[in-house]
Amino acid sequence: MKKIKAFAHASSANLGPGFDILGLALSVFQDTVELEEDPFSSRISIFSNELPLAVENNTAGLAIKKILEREKIRIGIKLKIAKGVPVGMGLGSSGASAAAAVTAMNEFLGLNLSMQEMISFAMQGEAAAAGDPHADNVAPALVGGLVALTSTDPIDFMNLNFNQNISMKLILPYVKIENKTKIARSVVPKEIPLKDHTLNTMNILGLLRSFESGDIEKLKKYMTDPIVESKRSIIYPFLNNIKNISMKYRDVAVALSGAGPSIIAFHDKNNEPETFLNEVANELNMQGIGCKIVESHVGLGSRVTQE
Ligand code: HSE
Repeated sequence: MKKIKAFAHASSANLGPGFDILGLALSVFQDTVELEEDPFSSRISIFSNELPLAVENNTAGLAIKKILEREKIRIGIKLKIAKGVPVGMGLGSSGASAAAAVTAMNEFLGLNLSMQEMISFAMQGEAAAAGDPHADNVAPALVGGLVALTSTDPIDFMNLNFNQNISMKLILPYVKIENKTKIARSVVPKEIPLKDHTLNTMNILGLLRSFESGDIEKLKKYMTDPIVESKRSIIYPFLNNIKNISMKYRDVAVALSGAGPSIIAFHDKNNEPETFLNEVANELNMQGIGCKIVESHVGLGSRVTQE
């Protein structure tokens, strides 16, 4: 019987001012999904050691359900999810599973979905984890590289230039919060002052140009968000201290990765930020949290790996 396997990389959303519209695929972690027809059932059965097995609570399962509903196809599907992206760390874990599942399902049914449709289905799946659909993890996981959403209904996106001289470190604090994304979204203000909107828009424009040019000092200047990130320090008490540490280093640009708790740090590939990383690790140790630090390159878009 036909089996389809697909992978999708981790991702970092927001990148400072780009709440819900900007995301970067990260090669360091990936989820793999294997999908086949279940001839003995008309349901989606999920096999995973780490994720909820109920379809409505599983981003990959929900995305597949949405595809089957739209295509009006009633078949049983066995879905095995091998997690490589750490769960609950703000590294697009739920988005990677959804993106890999949509990629596998597209191939399995020979649907020839457009990238916009794939993002839309994966985004609907993402709602299982985040409570409300957002596409800034699934879009980079599906497309690869640095991606901006330019419309949500209907979905549209742009690939953006990312200078190859920029390198990345991910700081993963040992923090686990149940329903983290839902909580982190609940502290986001529903209305904002016009001056914050203006500043944030300027920051996004500056940020995109800096990703393109590779100018880390400029990237640092624009990688600030007056609206969302600061509110999340209620959930992550270490965030302000790490931001303050980063202020001492002109050559490292730092942002909370997605809904946290991980932090993404950008630097020039010829200028390793060892002192900065040591200071951050010491700070997290002193707070009794600790952390793991890994390097990542820019990730590829989701791919079918085996039929
Ligand atoms: N943009 C989303 C958020 C990403 O910040 O809530 C969640 O991974």
